[in-house]
Amino acid sequence: MTDSAAVASSRAPGGAELIDGKAMAAAIRGELRETVERLAENGTRPGLAVALVGEDPASAVYVGGKIKACKEIGIRSIEARLPAETTTAQLLALIDEWNADDAVDGILVQLPLPKGIDTQAVVERIAPDKDVDGFGADNLGRLAQGKPRLVACTPWGVMEMLKRWGKPHGWSVAGKRAVVIGRSITVGRPMALLLLGADATVTICHSRTPDLAGAVRQAEIVVAAAGQRHLVKGDWIAEGAVVIDVGIHRGDDGKLTGDVEFGPASARARAISPVPGGVGPMTIAMLMANTVSACQGRRGTGV
Ligand code: GUN
Repeated sequence: MTDSAAVASSRAPGGAELIDGKAMAAAIRGELRETVERLAENGTRPGLAVALVGEDPASAVYVGGKIKACKEIGIRSIEARLPAETTTAQLLALIDEWNADDAVDGILVQLPLPKGIDTQAVVERIAPDKDVDGFGADNLGRLAQGKPRLVACTPWGVMEMLKRWGKPHGWSVAGKRAVVIGRSITVGRPMALLLLGADATVTICHSRTPDLAGAVRQAEIVVAAAGQRHLVKGDWIAEGAVVIDVGIHRGDDGKLTGDVEFGPASARARAISPVPGGVGPMTIAMLMANTVSACQGRRGTGV
């Protein structure tokens, strides 16, 4: 990714600089649209196939956002909406079809899948060069080897946020103490590997960490991906830390909030990402970036 389009900074109520994922994602989508236009001049159009199984309303909203981004950028989207009763074998057969279809560059099966479907088998069936989620053993293994190819979209989006916010400030991840809260395959683990690859000193915390507050207090970078609303208290944040909130929760008042107590944390942090408007739009932008790069890799079109 290049980062030609600088994003103007604004401030959170507590005084920290706001890391505006929404604006950064718009800039990335603009960059990708130009790349897709160049690909089209050579007769190539990237394609993304998305499967949504069951009726989970949040998943339907996320898939809708992904399809909308495809349209904006010029990526062809193929959508399969399947009933909750779909069997593992049926879903594997669909993935086999998409694996064999040369017009499909990326395959995404929205998670979580309904109970009864073997998620691991589904994730591993996606051809590694079409695994735009980066959840398969091949792509995760490459990341662990320090030779990433298709990287999970949320942690990659967080890295882009840190890079794009940090660059004009002369700030970078290298040499910083980073704490990642959460150890999922989808966010926490690849996040820690990416930070490590960028020369941070990384601590991974999780539900069995005895002194989470103590770990967060010594961090210069905090990535909160625990999936627990307001788990990270404002007074845990070290003065001047950079905080990225991956969580998204709907409160009783209907408002979306994250894993971090935003107001109090923004009084201590140097910079913080909001919820909504932070990591969410970046995840979608990086999915689009993975689809374009999968297309370029598979079809040998290096434009
Ligand atoms: N569900 C929540 N986040 C994701 C994601 O990044 N990819 C997929 N496939 N499902 C998700």
